[in-house]
Amino acid sequence: MTGSDVRERIGSLVDGETYRHGNPFALWRWMRANEPVAWHEPGVFPGFWSLTGYDEVKEVLRDASTFSSSSGILLRPLAQGDDPGSNRTLALSDPPRHNVLRGAIAGWFAPRNLRRLSQTLDTTAESTVRKAVAAGRTEFVTDVAATLPLDVVCTFLDIPDADRPSLVEWSSEAFCAGTAEERTLAHLQILDYFGDLVEQRRARPGDDLVSVLAGVRHEGELLPLEEVVLNCDNLLVGGTENVRLAMSGGMLALLEHPDQWELLRGDFEGTVDTAIEELLRWTSSATHIMRRATRDVVLGGQRIRSGDLVACWLTSANFDPRHFRDPDVLDIRRTPNRHLALGAGPHYCIGTQLAKMEIRAVLREFCAQVGEVALDGAPERLDSIVVNGLRTLPLRLTPREPAARA
Ligand code: HEM
Repeated sequence: MTGSDVRERIGSLVDGETYRHGNPFALWRWMRANEPVAWHEPGVFPGFWSLTGYDEVKEVLRDASTFSSSSGILLRPLAQGDDPGSNRTLALSDPPRHNVLRGAIAGWFAPRNLRRLSQTLDTTAESTVRKAVAAGRTEFVTDVAATLPLDVVCTFLDIPDADRPSLVEWSSEAFCAGTAEERTLAHLQILDYFGDLVEQRRARPGDDLVSVLAGVRHEGELLPLEEVVLNCDNLLVGGTENVRLAMSGGMLALLEHPDQWELLRGDFEGTVDTAIEELLRWTSSATHIMRRATRDVVLGGQRIRSGDLVACWLTSANFDPRHFRDPDVLDIRRTPNRHLALGAGPHYCIGTQLAKMEIRAVLREFCAQVGEVALDGAPERLDSIVVNGLRTLPLRLTPREPAARA
């Protein structure tokens, strides 16, 4: 390949079509082997380094003082300007501000608090899957994988029941609507909604995450309203989008590997924990996470200058053969499985345990209630460079015979 062929090939990493119809895995395999730290010239996006190997990605994620999050963690076209969350949200803050925000909400994601939720979660999973089985077919992404996480986040934020249908509608449009304008409009509606809600909770605080965020003080001052709103929005997006993609991608993976599906159904309690880790690795829904270097540093033999942007391709790192034996094989009993789907270091996903509880609840109900499951049409993939996974997953379902459930 000539130098310009290589640059063109690497450039396709920032083209959404690569994820919808192309094969990013072939490209990542080539980059890991030939150019694990590769420079992208500025164009639609600012210039940045692409990291595709496990070791380099992990090194960056773990070192928050050399690799800052505060100017944004996702590649944005230059025309869009700075990320509005810069230096304001949990994910887009560096220590010590990051420690203050994370400390304020960490208790909500601790196992003790999550246990309070498990009964509601199991009941919702049971009824959601029951409805799908009774109908005989389901659009799994919207009917199951989007419903449960949204319900959980709404409970954390104490969204009144009457408002939930609107949030469900806006969220699904914000993620899945046909045009970018429709997605942006739906997102603005969510931000507006949170603006009103935060003002109400500041006036009358309750026992919920919005009230907690509304009461956070940094350097003696309450966070400005806009910052609280952006943090609520991040929780809604972070808490729903990735879980939806991991669940639906995980379901497709099991359908495409019937031996693994049978293994899970045959010994649910014995395999589910490792199965969830493997499905998280396999789906790696957060495609990349970005940082900005705060000093000159050498990474994978390349000199990264202070101020350079560095994109960590998590999906690629999770298929690095130097860390995963037979990475292209789905093995629900894989151990060890130190994937980076939930990040690493100080920004490691705060919703990890919650996400796993939700995936477990849906898998359990599928194993218990569903007999045959098959595709009911071709699934469609998203055309995003930020998250990868399914836009649709139409399924046909038959109930499991009562004798088989025992
Ligand atoms: C399968 C599901 C999920 C995946 C794959 C996922 C992925 C990630 C990743 C890769 C990061 C690290 C970002 C970075 O290093 O800059 C992260 C952080 C975060 N996630 Fe998740 N996430 C999931 C579920 C959730 C859930 C359920 C919630 C909340 C309800 C959540 C809320 C957050 C928040 C607030 C952060 C920022 C943490 C910080 O900066 O300290 N995520 N997530």
